[in-house]
Amino acid sequence: MANQIMQRQLPLCRPSITQLETRAVLEVMQSGWLTTGAKALEFEERFRAFVGSDFAVAVTSGTAAMHVVFHGLNIGPGDEVITPSLTWVSTINLIELMGAKPVFVDVDRHNLMTSAEHIEKLITRRTKAIVPVHFAGAACDVDSINSLIGERQITLIEDTAHAVGTKFNEKQVGSKYNSVFSFHAIKNLTTGEGGMVCSNDQELVERIRRVKFHGLAVDAFDRVTQGRRPQAMVVEPGFKYNMTDMCAALGLVQLDRIFEINQKRCALAQHYQLRIAGIKGVDPLSVPDTTTHAWHLFIVRVTAEKHTREEVMSFLSARGIGSGIHFLPAHQHPYYLNKYGPHKHLKNSEWNGSRIMSLPLYPDMEMADVDHICDVLEEAVKP
Ligand SMILES: Cc1ncc(COP(=O)(O)O)c(C=O)c1O
Repeated sequence: MANQIMQRQLPLCRPSITQLETRAVLEVMQSGWLTTGAKALEFEERFRAFVGSDFAVAVTSGTAAMHVVFHGLNIGPGDEVITPSLTWVSTINLIELMGAKPVFVDVDRHNLMTSAEHIEKLITRRTKAIVPVHFAGAACDVDSINSLIGERQITLIEDTAHAVGTKFNEKQVGSKYNSVFSFHAIKNLTTGEGGMVCSNDQELVERIRRVKFHGLAVDAFDRVTQGRRPQAMVVEPGFKYNMTDMCAALGLVQLDRIFEINQKRCALAQHYQLRIAGIKGVDPLSVPDTTTHAWHLFIVRVTAEKHTREEVMSFLSARGIGSGIHFLPAHQHPYYLNKYGPHKHLKNSEWNGSRIMSLPLYPDMEMADVDHICDVLEEAVKP
């Protein structure tokens, strides 16, 4: 009992919040302006410059960001959107809710990212968009996917939810095509909940700006800064996805700290890699050599003969160690299985879906925590 009380709790994730973040949010709270305002504009501009895209629009989540991009592209009935089954369900749900058809593509068995090769066979004349994922903070080769698209009228949307600070061949991902970032509490850069669309497509961005706030084309802040009329008019029906200044103030400080945050994540991940190399029955993901890794997640596959992934997760949990599954393949969720049936071609997604497990990884961890987790993991998979 005494041992259990002393046991150090290591959750799967914990946001890195310093006094700088606390102070910045408090200042906004005391300023008299809480919703979208100067901080949200500054965050958009600073994030745009960080990514290297022409435009950035801040919204309330990565899901909202994907929604406004799909809406802006008029994705709807008769359209197909190709995306991995092994991704967060928000993307698949949105495709479905837009009335389009999700076309599930398989991923590489060892880095969980899709490729032009996997996608090629699935393109039809109905394909309207392709959404590859930069998985766990590694970089997907989206340039090859763009070359595959060639002159076809297909839009490439990079899912950069895991990838603040990820580089492909030394260049920040999300700058060349349309990209969708998430600032959910588990992410490397967090605003609690939040998201950002980055794009170089001015027309698409203008539409997104219009629909992110009721389709009024302006928001409450414009009344103060641009003297808009007290009651704006709907230009087209829109959503309520504007980011608050409290979230943006948090995001601005996190953006200042992102290099430090990612460096610590990287050091911890490298230590995990060293330790896990010696544990039989636990197989980490491989990292493409084109990648500067943001290390959003540290994922292993449980391949031990005598223990399932669920058993290992329970063992860790009993020792105060959190873990997670990113992700169960979407085509195996009841709704999608009922609607579209089984998918024989998604072998790597299914193989990984029953084995992947994310281990704790966050900047406040110490190397000794990694050692402790690896010791317990080794015990968990013992033959
Ligand atoms: C790959 C991926 N895409 C999109 C999202 C959606 O982001 P949000 O939770 O901010 O809506 C997530 C969230 O975890 C994700 O992991």
